[in-house]
Amino acid sequence: MSAMKFEDQDLSRLSEYAALAESYIPGRLAIFAIVESAFHELLTAEPAKILVVGAGGGEEILRLGAENPSWSFVGVDTFEPMVEMAKVRLAASPVGERSVVHTMGIDQLDESGFDAATCILTAHFVPDDGSKLAFFEAIRARMKPGAPLAIIDGVGVSGERDTELLRRIWVRHAVRNGVPEAEARKNAQNFSKIPVVSAEREEELLQAAGFKDLVPIFQGLAIKGWLAFA
Ligand SMILES: C[S@@+](CC[C@H](N)C(=O)[O-])C[C@H]1O[C@@H](n2cnc3c(N)ncnc32)[C@H](O)[C@@H]1O
Repeated sequence: MSAMKFEDQDLSRLSEYAALAESYIPGRLAIFAIVESAFHELLTAEPAKILVVGAGGGEEILRLGAENPSWSFVGVDTFEPMVEMAKVRLAASPVGERSVVHTMGIDQLDESGFDAATCILTAHFVPDDGSKLAFFEAIRARMKPGAPLAIIDGVGVSGERDTELLRRIWVRHAVRNGVPEAEARKNAQNFSKIPVVSAEREEELLQAAGFKDLVPIFQGLAIKGWLAFA
């Protein structure tokens, strides 16, 4: 059986994606605040061109762009409805003038020299059959040497004690945030169907792709984030 893709989930409430993601993802707003602060620390030369991989919905471009007028964004995402949502939301924001989002995989992007990149809750949809390594290599190939990638991903091996405990807590956390229990359970179950890998494997793959000096910047239950330098 092939791995579940983002678009294989129940997307009947896709228009509510931004609000739902905030209820589901532990520390969702902290993630953006931490990534923005990391880039403030690291992107000292203005202006900066930021690559956003998995830019569907537009959330990270809107959040990172709002108070940083010298940052511009190029996003890629493989799922047209999420790209459309990003375009609609960006068109209603001043950040839209500094942003472009393409429906394509990162390997198809004919642009490089990025000062920084983000990959938020996206790499965990890419199978670990050589594709995840190629995906990380394709990101790095488009970044300036030494530029920071902020990567946030689900981690953990299904069936392992700690992973399962974190996923059960995750369900309770979502319910506490107002998500109906059946929906919260289904969302957590989806994590056993998508190609999430352990934090150690994710680090191994990032390093194999040539990223250096990994620094953990976030962990909220089974969602982990790092800075990794191209
Ligand atoms: C959970 S959403 C996260 C979207 C956004 N980064 C955020 O945090 O709001 C995952 C996104 O990754 C996209 N995606 C999945 N596989 C992808 C791939 N191989 N390349 C680019 N985007 C991909 C999906 O279409 C979807 O828009």
